[in-house]
Parts: sequence; structure tokens; C-alpha cells
Amino acid sequence: MLRNKKYMITTEELRQKYLDFFKAKGHTVIDGASLIPENDPTVLFTTSGMHPLVPFLLGEKHPSGNKLVNYQKCIRTGDIEEVGDIGHLTFFEMLGNWSFGEYFKKQAIEYSFEFLTSSKWLDISVEKLAVTVFAGDDDADRDQESAKVWKSLGIPEHKVAYLGKKDNWWGPAGQTGPCGPDSEMFYWIGQGRPSTKSNPGTDPDNWVEIWNDVFMQYNKTADGKYEPLQQKNVDTGMGLERVVMILNGFSNVYQVDSIKPIYDTVKELAVDKKNDKAFRIITDHIRAAVMIMGDDRGVMPSNLDQGYVVRRLIRTAIRQGRELGISDSFVLLVARVVIDTLGDVYDELKRNEQKIISELTVEEEKFKKAIKSGTKQAKKIMEQNFDKYLHEQGKEGMQVQSISRKEKLNFPNPLITGKEAFYLYSTYGIPVELIKELAEEKGFVLNQEEFEKEIKKHQELSQAGSEQKFSGGLADHSDEVKKLHTTTHLLHVALRKVLGDHVAQKGSNITGERLRFDFSHPAKMTPKEIEQVENIVNEQIDKKLSVSFTEMTVDEAKANGALGLFTQKYGDKVKVYTVGEDDNFFSRELCGGPHVENLSELGHFKITKEQASSAGVRRIKAVLE
Ligand code: SER
Repeated sequence: MLRNKKYMITTEELRQKYLDFFKAKGHTVIDGASLIPENDPTVLFTTSGMHPLVPFLLGEKHPSGNKLVNYQKCIRTGDIEEVGDIGHLTFFEMLGNWSFGEYFKKQAIEYSFEFLTSSKWLDISVEKLAVTVFAGDDDADRDQESAKVWKSLGIPEHKVAYLGKKDNWWGPAGQTGPCGPDSEMFYWIGQGRPSTKSNPGTDPDNWVEIWNDVFMQYNKTADGKYEPLQQKNVDTGMGLERVVMILNGFSNVYQVDSIKPIYDTVKELAVDKKNDKAFRIITDHIRAAVMIMGDDRGVMPSNLDQGYVVRRLIRTAIRQGRELGISDSFVLLVARVVIDTLGDVYDELKRNEQKIISELTVEEEKFKKAIKSGTKQAKKIMEQNFDKYLHEQGKEGMQVQSISRKEKLNFPNPLITGKEAFYLYSTYGIPVELIKELAEEKGFVLNQEEFEKEIKKHQELSQAGSEQKFSGGLADHSDEVKKLHTTTHLLHVALRKVLGDHVAQKGSNITGERLRFDFSHPAKMTPKEIEQVENIVNEQIDKKLSVSFTEMTVDEAKANGALGLFTQKYGDKVKVYTVGEDDNFFSRELCGGPHVENLSELGHFKITKEQASSAGVRRIKAVLE
């Protein structure tokens, strides 16, 4: 990225400072994980730095040690409606330092304070900082300890806000697991100086959250109790773009160097130069879509899970673009700027550039076609509704022109119901504005209120769906999940033996009931191939092979024939799981675990489904009986 003198600090500089600071405090730098969680059904995307590290918070040993530091690509879609304000982003970067059973509250807070305020590091004036700590409730005590440490460092009592679980508690990642109170740091963005009455609790609009220190000291049990953890952990998360924003005195994140070139390009392309919110949404959405598609486990637009999110991001951006009067195919232009802007830090974007561009081209074409058939469908629905209305009124054959304006405005279902509009919107992706236009062409008004109700209902449903997704899986280390996880390694090797070495894992998702495995392969598997794969896996299970892991360097892992994505930039050690004897193994794979200890625990393997997932990628669902 070009160093720009205009910036007091760039994202690149802050990332580096953060790593340097914690390295100097004895932390090991590790790579961030993929945006697409591996073997984890609990969420669609990596939503925080903590998420890929859950097994280590639960006590697995991390190959790089107990004190780590990293930066992590994150996607959050929960606040997508907020995008366009000063600070919410769908894709953002999170800086984090980690202690697995090493230091706790005092040390974590002292590190945070030193990094923020020391003239050697960020040099933020203490006057502009305030903090929140957990107020305490029936489950856990008030976090006096954190408050005391902050005060000892010079944060006055009135700048410490005590808030409840909603604000100052993090985790567990599933329904059970490690969790605890957190203490958040805020920066003053109000006018002048904060008064002695102002803190993030009393005056939230004037403070922006910049960093969160989470103290994982409890384990939430299945019956909802909070038990003290043996191993107390620290998980911190600093929002990279937000901190660069405040350090430079910017009023919003779109001025930050890792976003501004994208925003400027969108603005330049726009005919209507006034709709700042639309520039922001397009910038955010294309940036996020490119990051998801450009990940080494990248997901392309589709109607399924992550692919659906990518599709919606792109289509919303195109729709907003139309409103700004931007001509066709601007998505590609903007995507190239995203790759230029973030490609030095995330070189996977450059590796995957061709794929990103060709998929975006296809998606833009598809969207155009969908709009065409959606428009046709919309017209058909309107005609049918109109005929039905005339029939009910005994006015068959009457022309639309001969209906008075007043009657049209009071039309019971203004040509198209909210439900129907929602159907067109969700199936064809056609913008509600377009549906409105089609109705208005005939002099009718769309029942926008009903349409919005439908959208809300749908959002609630999908939220419930994602909460459900959050409830199972590796995060709780259940035995069923562990077994299926080990089975996934066996399946991977069996597929390569039957279909060839081009087979590579493209995704995995495990629930307590089944595994799902996506892999590259150009054709549908024949029944015979499926049977062969099942047999190979079951033969290994019958042999009762043992499962073990060792820690080694990436080079050693490669030399020892391990499968996996070798994209590590940091951290000299990785964890490698082996099924079978060391010198005569069946499977060897880079993996964080957990796994069973012996295949005899598994039972009988059966493939229940083999289908297409996306172009060149097949999907298998399988169970253990
Ligand atoms: N998990 C916490 C967060 O996302 C701190 O990293 O805010």
C-alpha cells in the first residue's frame, strides 16, 4: 500500500505497531484464520478474532504458545442495516492479543493502557478515554478488579461506566463454553472536552468503542450456570479501521486508507454526487464481497449460506449504483480497487483475482437476467390481481385507465401485496423501487408498509436460524462432532484415492447429526465411486487406526505429506493430525482439532447425499451409523 503523508497513521502502520508492541511483551505473532470457518457449523463467517481460537480457549494447546497476537479478517452481517453510518462495516479487521491461562485482568488492562497512551505507541491523551466494566448480576460479581486497575492507571472514577451483560459480557460462542465479563475502551468524539458527567454509559453518542478486553473466567454449563474456569483466558479485540479513523481525526471510516480509494472510485463513477449513504453502502458491500470471494476458502455467489450473503452484497451494491446513475459493470472497476487496496496485506486477493473478476462478471449478468424475468413476473402478478379485483367488483373487462385515481389509491392490494413484492424481491432480487415503479406506471401505489413487515419477518427468521447455527458444533466439543470431524479427514483422503489428487477440500460443516464436505471435482460421482469411497473409509475404521497429533513447522508438515492450506505468514509451528502409524499413515492433515483418539470410536460410515455445490465443487453429506 502506498504510504500517504496525509495520514498520521495508516492501517498498515497500526497493524505493525500492535504486533510489535505485543511481540515486545513476549507474545508470538500468529496468522489470522480464513473468513470461512473450517469444520465449524456454528457461524457462516469468522466474526471476531476469538472465533477461530475457541478450541484453545477451551484448553487445547496452541502450537505457538499461550501468549499470542494477530490480526483477523472479520465479517459481520448482523448490523448490516447500520452500514452507511460513521463506523459499521461488513468486512473489518480486528487486532487481538491472547492469553491462554497466562496473564489476566491486571496485565491485560495495563497492556491496553500502555499501548493506547504511551508516547512510544499511540499517544492518546488519557482525557479522551473512558472505559466500561461489568456491573455484576445474579450470575457473576461486579468487576471491581478491572475498575480498580483502570483507576490505578489514571482513569478517573467518573469515566468508568458499570454496565450489564448486554454491554459488558462476551461469549460463549455456542450455548455453552467459556465466557466472561469484558472491559471496553472508548474514545471521545464529542465537541470540546468531555464533562465530568460524560461517560459511555451516560453519554453514548459521544464515545466510540475502540477496544474490548474480554476476561474468560467462566464456563457456561448446559443448565445455564456459570462455573469458574480452571484456565482463565484473555481475548482482546481492537477494531483496526475505527482506531485509524479516530487517530486521524476523521469523522467516518470511509476516509481510512484501506477504504478511501474504494469510496473515491464509487463517488467518481456516480452521476448523482449527493447520496453519500449510497457511496458508503456500495463501498462496504463490494469490499466485503471481494474479501469473501478472494479468501483461500473463498465462496462464490449462490443461493446458499455464505454464497447467498455474497450475492446479496453484490446485488444491493448494483441496485444502489443504479440509483446513483452508474452505468453497467462498475462492480468490476470497484472490485479491482479493493484488490489493489488490500492485496498487499491479504495476498490471497491477488492469487484469486482472476476468479473474483470472472465470478463478478457472471453475477452481474445473472442479476440483469433476473431483473428481466422478475419484471415479467411482477407484471403478470399485477395483471392477475387486477383481473381478480375487477371480477370481485363485477367490473370485468374494465380498462385500467378508466379507474379513477382515488379508487387506485384505495385499491385493496395496490396491484401487488407486500408478500408478493417480497417474493419478487427475494426470488429474483428485484429491487422494491422497481416494483414500485412498475405499479406507479399504472397509477397504483405499493403497500410499502406491508412489504417492510415481510422483510422484517424474514430477517427475524434468518436471525433465529443463525442463532440455531450458533448452538452446536465444535464450539461445544461434543463427542458426535468430534467423531464426524475425524471422519472428514478420512473422507478427504478416500476421495483423493478414488477420484484423483485434484480433489481438495473447499469447505466443511459439521453438526451433531451429519458432516458436510465440499471438494473440487468436475463431475457428479457415480454410485460405484460413492461405494468405493464408503468402503475405503469403513476399512480404516475397521482397522481401528489410532489418531495422534504433533506440532511441526510448516516446512516439516509439507515434507511429511500433510494435506491442508499452507498460507501461513506467521507462527513457525502448526498442528498436524495423523491417522495411522507414523511411517505408514492413512491421513495426515493440518488441523486445529479436536479429534477422537482411535477410529474404533466411529461406527459405520455412510454417504447420504452427493450433489453440486457450485461450479466445479461437489458436496457430500454423510453420517456415522
Ligand atoms: N471477542 C471480543 C470481540 O469481538 C474481543 O475480541 O469484541
